[in-house]
This record gives sequence, structure tokens and C-alpha cells, in this order.
Amino acid sequence: MKIIILNGSPKGEDSITLQYCLYAKRIIKDHEFSSYNISSRIKVLENNSAKMQELLEAISNSDGIIWSFPVYHLLVPAQYKRFIELVFENKEFIKAFSGKHAVSISSSAHFYDNLAHKYIHGISEDLGMLFHGSLSAEMEDLLNVDFRKNLITFFNSYIEESLAKTPIPKRFNPVVKRYNDYVPSKNIKESEKGKHSVLVVTDSSENDVSLNNMINVFKKKFPGKTEIVNLNSIDIRGGCLGCCRCGYDGTCIYKDKLSSFFDGCLRSYDLIVFALSIKDRYFSSAWKYLWDRSFYHGHRPVLDGKHYLYLISGPLRDLPDVIDEIYARAEIANSDISGIVTDEYDDSDTITKMIEAQCIKLIKNADSEYIPTPTFLGIGGAKVLRDLVYGLKGIFREDDIYYTAKGLYDFPQKKWKNRAFNIFVKVINHIPVLRKKIYENAVKEMVKPHKNIVENC
Ligand SMILES: Cc1cc2nc3c(=O)[nH]c(=O)nc-3n(C[C@H](O)[C@H](O)[C@H](O)COP(=O)(O)O)c2cc1C
Repeated sequence: MKIIILNGSPKGEDSITLQYCLYAKRIIKDHEFSSYNISSRIKVLENNSAKMQELLEAISNSDGIIWSFPVYHLLVPAQYKRFIELVFENKEFIKAFSGKHAVSISSSAHFYDNLAHKYIHGISEDLGMLFHGSLSAEMEDLLNVDFRKNLITFFNSYIEESLAKTPIPKRFNPVVKRYNDYVPSKNIKESEKGKHSVLVVTDSSENDVSLNNMINVFKKKFPGKTEIVNLNSIDIRGGCLGCCRCGYDGTCIYKDKLSSFFDGCLRSYDLIVFALSIKDRYFSSAWKYLWDRSFYHGHRPVLDGKHYLYLISGPLRDLPDVIDEIYARAEIANSDISGIVTDEYDDSDTITKMIEAQCIKLIKNADSEYIPTPTFLGIGGAKVLRDLVYGLKGIFREDDIYYTAKGLYDFPQKKWKNRAFNIFVKVINHIPVLRKKIYENAVKEMVKPHKNIVENC
């Protein structure tokens, strides 16, 4: 079998993830593996059609594809996302991928790696590929003998299934635009302007009729000042390189305008609207470049306390993982999403009314400093980040200073009262009479402090 590894790491040959594939290549000798650096050469692929053609031919002549990538900001790196966009822009490319056997492999800290793999799985199915499975490794897993055995089993079964033409079930429905563009009525009245100001960040182009209309209606209806920034107009020279040099003091090696936008503009607003279009199974790579590059802030929730409204054009309801991603990022940063309005309605008036209602809600939430309590998305995510930063505090020095100062190293073993309680209960649990009493009273004792609050308020 001829297999092509599409290396999504901006580190190119120095990618950790790529080593997992190269290990498999060395062990599995009966098959031909070749690798292409995608993310580290994205500018070349974008601007040099001969190089793109070369890759197209290699893909056409292969039997299988390995999507190999690091997880970046809850998805694949922006450069890889951009590559996927280029693929969908070119019919020949879609044809080349169609019918090929695919697997995905990543390395990460397991922070929302599931979303990245589901994204690639969905993309593979959209391209008409047969998707055989994904393997999500930790950064250090290759150093472990048992893991290496698993890795080879994974690749062998991919090859065996591909050769045997084993039927492969599909997991996702296609993402379909079901609604017409949002075209609001011409005589929308402007709201009176008050003291609030809001930043609208968008990646829209002239062709995004619906999204531009949503932004315009929002601007009319928002009772305050609106600043609009288009991500495509900011001087962003490239995607995060994964060099981690920012870990020491929070300084990015790029000398472009990303950080002045992020710190000087985005962070200065409490009310922020993100106006975005769905592109394939996520938002645009321009959006992804922004978040990957914000890595110079490490794992610090630097946008805490913000209030967001999302205006989205495209079939978001087909993409529950993207909805989860939106909430995950907000919850981890202890911020609030006042609403998400999409253009998935038959009737434009409904959308206009929703935008108007959301203007009020955004202001109300900000005025009352309302921050919703996090769900598993935020709580689970924060714990993974806490453990990661603690384990790598030498590299992520700036994070360590922040986590220490903010008390974010809230490991359970530091909760002394809780530990004392558990030791006590563990001991007396050995005595059957006392154990019976403890469990008899457990429900009542647990709710007692809550009842006290209710009764004495
Ligand atoms: C900009 C950036 C964003 C990252 N985001 C995530 C993430 O969301 N989840 C995660 O588990 N790891 C994340 N990581 C860690 C990488 O996935 C991890 O270091 C990976 O092993 C790098 O693989 P590579 O050497 O193949 O590029 C991020 C790293 C960088 C530099």
C-alpha cells in the first residue's frame, strides 16, 4: 500500500507527531510511506501552484492518507486548516482524496484532542474518504514500550482493513446550507446610542452577504458605539510555529500586528461580538490564526470576564462540536456567551428580532457582570491545563507565575479540611455500627448546609 503522511505540524521534520508515523514506517516494512510537510510550507502551497500540483499527484497516486497533526487550540493548527480550505477550493484535489483510506494521528496534552480528531474525521468523509480511525497520543507516549506496540497495531489494522476493503461506517452527516441568505428589510430603525461600546471581530469578505447584513443590523441596533475589525486586514505574518519561546516571558517571536490587536484592542473591550462564517466544518483559518497566535499568553485565561455574542452565518446546527468548542473556550476563560445568533431561519425578520434582543442581553449581562457557572467543558478543561502547566512550569515560566499568584494550582490534595474529613470517615467506616449510621444520615447531612441557606435567606 502507498501511504502519504500529511504532516500538519508547523515544526516540519522536528514534529513530535511525525516521529510516531516515522516509527511506524520503520517497523512496517512491506508498505511504502512518504511524508509531506504541509503546515510548515503552507505559504509555498498557497502561492506556488506547481508545488500544490506535485502534492496533488502524490495524493492521486496513493492508496491511503495519514493525517498527522498536533492539536492546536482545540483543533488542528491554522496552517493545516488553511490547507484543508485550499483542498476544498480545488475540484481536482477533492477528486484526488476521494476513495482513499484515511486515519488520523495526533500528539497533544489531550486538551480537546477529541474535537480535532472529529473535525478531521468529518473532513475525510466530506472528501469521500474511508476513515479507519484515529489515535490521539500524548507528547511523551512514543517513549513507552506498550504504547509503541499499540501504535503498530493501530497502523497494521488500518492497512489490513484497507487491503481487505472492510466496510467502513460513516459517522457524520454532510454539512449543508439549508437557508437563503439573510436579507433584512431596508427600513430598520437605528437604536438610540448610549454609553456602551462593543468590538465586532469578523473574518467576513464581500461575498459573505448574510454575515455582512447581520453585522450591519447589529451595528444599527446596538445602543452604543461599535468598532469593527476585520481579521483579514490585520498584519498577521504567519501561524504559530510551536517554538514555545513565549513560555518564558510571554513574548512572541513574530514582529507583526497580532499582539497589538490582541492586547491593545480585543482585551480592552468587555463586550465583544464575533461575526463569523462556517467554512467546511469550522470557522475560517483567519480565525484560527488569531487563536493559535494568542499562544504567547500561554495557558492564562487573559480574556476572563468578557461578554460575547456570536453572529454566525452557516449551518452551525449541523456542527455540535463547534458549539461545544465555543462554550469550552468561554468557560475556561471564565467568560460569558450572551447568545449565538445564526442565519439558519427561513424568515429574515426572525433573525433581525434575535439580533435586536441579543443587543439588549449582551448589555444586561455585562451590566450585571453575569458569568455563567462552567460545565464539564470549562471545569475539565481547566484541570487539564492546570496539570499541564504544573508539569511544564520550567518551560511555561510566565504561566507558572500566573497560576501561583491566582491560586490556580488547586489540586485536591491541598484541600486540608476535605482530607481530614476523609481520613476520619475512612477510619470509622471500619466499624459496622458507625458505618451504618454514616450512610443512614449521608443524604440529610449533605443537604443540611444548603437547607440552612434557603431557610435563612
Ligand atoms: C499554539 C499551540 C496550541 C496548542 N493547543 C493545544 C490544545 O488545544 N490541546 C492540546 O492538548 N495541546 C495543545 N498544544 C500542544 C501540542 O499539541 C503538543 O505540544 C504537540 O505534541 C506538538 O506536536 P508537534 O511537535 O508534532 O507539533 C498546543 C501547542 C501550541 C504551540
